[in-house]
Amino acid sequence: MKKLRILALVREGLVPPENMEGYSEKEIAEWKAEFDVVSTLRQMGHEVNAIGVYDDLAPIRKAIREWQPDIAFMLLEEFHGVASYDHAIVSYLELMRQPYTGCNPRGLLLSKDKALSKKILSYHRILTPKFVMFPRGRRAKVPKRLAFPLLVKANLEDASAGISQASIVTTEEALLERVKFIHDKVDCGAIAEQYIEGRELYVGVIGNARLQTFPAWEMLFKNMPDDVAKIATAKVKFDEEYQKRHGIETGLAQGLDEEQQMQVTRLCKRVYRALNMSGYARMDLRMRADGSVFVLEANGNPNIAYGEDFAESAESTGTSYEALLQRIINLGLNYEAPWRR
Ligand SMILES: Nc1ncnc2c1ncn2[C@@H]1O[C@H](COP(=O)(O)OP(=O)(O)OP(=O)(O)O)[C@@H](O)[C@H]1O
Ligand SMILES: [Mg+2]
Repeated sequence: MKKLRILALVREGLVPPENMEGYSEKEIAEWKAEFDVVSTLRQMGHEVNAIGVYDDLAPIRKAIREWQPDIAFMLLEEFHGVASYDHAIVSYLELMRQPYTGCNPRGLLLSKDKALSKKILSYHRILTPKFVMFPRGRRAKVPKRLAFPLLVKANLEDASAGISQASIVTTEEALLERVKFIHDKVDCGAIAEQYIEGRELYVGVIGNARLQTFPAWEMLFKNMPDDVAKIATAKVKFDEEYQKRHGIETGLAQGLDEEQQMQVTRLCKRVYRALNMSGYARMDLRMRADGSVFVLEANGNPNIAYGEDFAESAESTGTSYEALLQRIINLGLNYEAPWRR
């Protein structure tokens, strides 16, 4: 394997240390993904230069010019605090003629905007919950064509920002109140969509032209009280105490027959192509008891920390973490950005 010069782009403050010794669990959680990627790439023999980026592109430009990396490993999820600017960073890398890992700018832009991506999926007749958009600064009107219960969420955020049990609304009053909450507290346009009761599945997709999916990973709520909806709220995703108490675990989705697995695989590849994605992505799905599968969203820049769903599901097929990272790099090196044509 060729040894590469890899420029790891991470958020300022998240440049990982050489080793984890002496850090608290809470501190480690902050830069775990960055640490896993950078330290694994170094163990594989690559030369890695990790730089912190917050609100200035100059350090990226300087590193590309002076150090001439073979590839930039894209681990940024925001630019000056705005999560939806990840597409702009990879656009900049393309303008610099710099190969990078992960999804291309258009795929990131389309997938990040939930309303826009759902419109595209509908065009392709891909099942996604019916929805209405509530832009900020416009008076919210209750939609006639949607039936309660609805789930209200931010259109452009991720990491379940603003998602709690109160996101599920069953009355007009609660709907308008929650929309206002998203506008004011999450600072974002809101969408209200058909609430899908069912199994929560995550599917990793990897590739540029030829695609592979990893087995569906399921979030289980083993010990959730009956009156609490089984959805991945911010608490469910990040509060370890809460996870233990409610038996929240993720693992290989059990009991899907071959046809269902094929259905999920085909669906995820279609979504990936419809949204012009490349590199790798994670699809968030809900499967109803009748077997119908709804696409909640496509994540163009998912968490690839060791032990997280994406890497775990890859590992379940015999793809080690090292092999996964190498594939992500190879896909980046081979991606045909417009400047290469
Ligand atoms: N229409 C829906 N019906 C049922 N549950 C939903 C629906 N939309 C969202 N959820 C629940 O809320 C969670 C978060 O929603 P979603 O994935 O759309 O938002 P996100 O904040 O972008 O998440 P991520 O952290 O994956 O980026 C889902 O994983 C699911 O459990
Ligand atoms: Mg999600």
